[in-house]
Amino acid sequence: MKNTIEYLIKLREEAKLGGGVKRIEEQHKKGKLTARERLEILLDDGSFQEIDMFVRHRAHDFGMDKQRPLGDGVVTGYGTIDGRLVFVFSQDFTVFGGSLSEAHAEKICKIMDLAMKVGAPVIGLNDSGGARIQEGVASLGGYAEIFLRNTLASGVIPQISAIMGPCAGGAVYSPAITDFIFMVKNTSYMFVTGPNVVKTVTHEDVTFEELGGATVHATKSGVAHFICDNDVECLLHIRKLLSYLPSNNMEDPPRIETGDDPNREEPKLDTIIPDNPNKPYDMKEIILSVVDNAEFLEVHEYFAPNIICGFARFDGYPVGIVANQPAVLAGVLDIDASVKAARFVRFCDAFNIPIITFVDVPGFMPGTDQEWRGIIRHGAKLLYAYCEATVPKITIITRKAYGGAYDVMGSKHIRSDINYAWPTAEIAVMGPKGAVEIIFKKEIEKAENPEELEEKLIQEYRDKFAHPYIAAERGYIDDVIEPRKTRQMIIKALRMLENKVDTNPKKKHGNIPL
Ligand code: HXC
Repeated sequence: MKNTIEYLIKLREEAKLGGGVKRIEEQHKKGKLTARERLEILLDDGSFQEIDMFVRHRAHDFGMDKQRPLGDGVVTGYGTIDGRLVFVFSQDFTVFGGSLSEAHAEKICKIMDLAMKVGAPVIGLNDSGGARIQEGVASLGGYAEIFLRNTLASGVIPQISAIMGPCAGGAVYSPAITDFIFMVKNTSYMFVTGPNVVKTVTHEDVTFEELGGATVHATKSGVAHFICDNDVECLLHIRKLLSYLPSNNMEDPPRIETGDDPNREEPKLDTIIPDNPNKPYDMKEIILSVVDNAEFLEVHEYFAPNIICGFARFDGYPVGIVANQPAVLAGVLDIDASVKAARFVRFCDAFNIPIITFVDVPGFMPGTDQEWRGIIRHGAKLLYAYCEATVPKITIITRKAYGGAYDVMGSKHIRSDINYAWPTAEIAVMGPKGAVEIIFKKEIEKAENPEELEEKLIQEYRDKFAHPYIAAERGYIDDVIEPRKTRQMIIKALRMLENKVDTNPKKKHGNIPL
């Protein structure tokens, strides 16, 4: 009996060493933690329960039958974050470069299946050379099994991917289907084809970092939602994100005591909007001053910064915030901003997270670049996402709400529950200058002093339309509020909407304009 237990302990020690001491040292030299070290930081102390530690691959070719390490390059199991159950897989680069074999894929699928049965998030820590080359199509099949599960789990349990090393080829598509992607600066990269193939096909010379590093994906492609300086920061950031999310689509997000007074007023908001309507201001200042303890977890911070998306709390209730940013491109809606916000709105709706929208938008971005790349179908995604969302929706118009963008940004007409405007709000078909140039084109052309006439007409138009009271007369705005009271008004509305029930017509699924 003693011998059998000793043998078990010996096997466990062997499994824990992964690819061995030398390869662990190499991993550390690259500035990366090992698969197990990462799980220790990610999960609550001592909560990790491993599954499938003794799994080995079944390949024979290329001498593989002589190297059959325990665990086969991925550590899988479950544990807790802030006491709440999560499922995890952590690829071990020290074993065959973390490459994915049939057995490795089966381990990941097993925890995904369990997570779906019990309704808990899956967090994948990716650090892999891709398909296990020695296994060929068995490895491709393994990936496809994971993609299928990612898709079926979408909207049922939160799925989070951290890229903490290589992630190349078709392997990128599992993280791409998950809800949020984290990347670590300088040690992670994602691309469909690497620099060598790029050189052959397009004759471009690019480094790994330039082609698919964290910064590129956080700023240009929008593939990465969060970027972090190192492994530890990344893992702690994942814990923080989880704190805003429910465990599954049947639960409400977890409320916590934040200690911030729900009736707190912010007098500085009464003067934050500049007198000149063309002058920018920072919408983030408004967000930070109304949410609990100025805590705001921004998503896609460096991608399409003309719109802001992120999580915060009001009186302890998690919410998703979507806000135009007048400090960047005047807060215009372009393709990237529309797609970014649409995906965020759909995530919040899938997971019962109320959406608070702050509006200061001059309209959609004009120009051939945007039209030819399809601002029509991309802008439609945001419109569709807002229309479809049945979670509590609260909208605050701080300044401009012009044209189609007024309709899109959580207007009353598309099922927003409570719509407030600040006295500085301007709600109209278009801005005064554009409007006057169209409706008084002939008069201005004929005038002795066209500039003077245009100025006068702009002022008249502004007095007539550039305020919230016409919309309020029609009930499109529920109230015009003093900016300082914004926090308490949002909290009251959230409490009123706590038991909101709304539905969409029964269908297989809608056809969002992809
Ligand atoms: C088997 C692999 C492997 C792979 C790496 N290794 N990738 N073994 N299959 N895909 C092994 C190496 O042989 C090496 O073993 C160890 O992992 C570490 O790799 P190194 O090359 O020494 O590390 P590094 O210099 O850091 O380079 C990492 C790397 C490189 C850039 C990821 O290994 C690489 O280019 N690998 C191949 C990547 C690739 O083309 N994958 C297939 C993509 S296609 P030893 O024993 O020497 O330590 C794909 C399709 C998926 O994934 C399709 C899904 C639909």
